[in-house]
Amino acid sequence: MRILVLGGTAFVGRAIVEDALRVGAEVTLFGRGRTGSELFPGVERRIGDRDADDYAALREGSWDAVVDVSGYLPRHVGRAMDALGDRVGRYLFISSHAVYVRTGLGPDSDEDTPRRPVRRDTEELTEETYGPLKAACEDDVVARYGSRATIVRPGKVAGPHDVQNGLTYWVRRAARGGRVALPGRPDQPVQLVDSRDLARLVVQLLADDRPGAFHAVGPAERITMAELIHTCARAAGAEVEVVPVPADAVSPFFPLMRPESMWPTLLRSPARARAAGMTATPMAVTAADVLAWDRGRGEPPLPLGLSPEEEAKLLAGV
Ligand SMILES: NC(=O)c1ccc[n+]([C@@H]2O[C@H](COP(=O)([O-])OP(=O)(O)OC[C@H]3O[C@@H](n4cnc5c(N)ncnc54)[C@H](OP(=O)(O)O)[C@@H]3O)[C@@H](O)[C@H]2O)c1
Repeated sequence: MRILVLGGTAFVGRAIVEDALRVGAEVTLFGRGRTGSELFPGVERRIGDRDADDYAALREGSWDAVVDVSGYLPRHVGRAMDALGDRVGRYLFISSHAVYVRTGLGPDSDEDTPRRPVRRDTEELTEETYGPLKAACEDDVVARYGSRATIVRPGKVAGPHDVQNGLTYWVRRAARGGRVALPGRPDQPVQLVDSRDLARLVVQLLADDRPGAFHAVGPAERITMAELIHTCARAAGAEVEVVPVPADAVSPFFPLMRPESMWPTLLRSPARARAAGMTATPMAVTAADVLAWDRGRGEPPLPLGLSPEEEAKLLAGV
């Protein structure tokens, strides 16, 4: 299987490339050559810039499938599709669960849940526009490739090399042990997908040449924030006490925390993806692997969450 990956050298795409290589696929990478240039020696690289509509490096070649991990705007996918045409068999677009409406959902919503109205009037990526722009990308890929289009909609992704560090914050904090400040409710549900499970799904869908839309959500078990923190602590051999602190004391969208009004949108059904072969790594394994990766890279400062001093101040008040 010959796979072209648009992206593939940071986190989600990196896991996909690793899994594709694991099953013996022949991979070509397309990117600007800025991120992870030391990765995957021996894998062919084509250099171009999607923001500048520069796909000249893709003029030659054909692939069984393209995996578009770095498309955020209709222009990105439009130009990529213009460049590739029928030289790719299948177009698999990495979208997001942010395409879905945010109200009126019960838990375990499936892939037929209504999406938010698409947006094509902006190229500014914000919390508001990200989902509607991804929805427009989905529509354009399906309009062009029909049954040769596949859409994968990840929920919150976690695992080694996570560039957003949502789980990393809690893994690192829990490993320090003691009283852990939780800005919000301990019973908030969390649904993370291990990047390696997402990658397994993508590669399996390509191997099976399967069309349609699939959630990439996990994990093996449904857990709450408090359970997640305890799982992270166990992975590090630490003891923790989870101490709720007022959510208004910290910024909204604290790592993995969401306002209660959004809780129903945090639980999506993995059924279709699981039936298609998506694996389900236990949270304990994801937490242990993130801990090992974070320690291995020397635990650099994280641009999110609470510093120990900020946390101590909050804990002193409860
Ligand atoms: N993380 C989550 O929780 C989550 C949740 C839902 C959906 N997603 C989706 O997952 C994807 C994010 O994956 P990732 O960033 O981890 O993927 P990745 O494919 O591992 O990394 C991003 C890649 O895009 C390339 N790239 C960036 N800007 C580019 C440009 N202008 N032109 C060409 N290539 C460019 C980068 O290489 P260069 O820098 O060398 O160009 C890099 O290889 C997105 O589609 C996102 O919407 C993520």
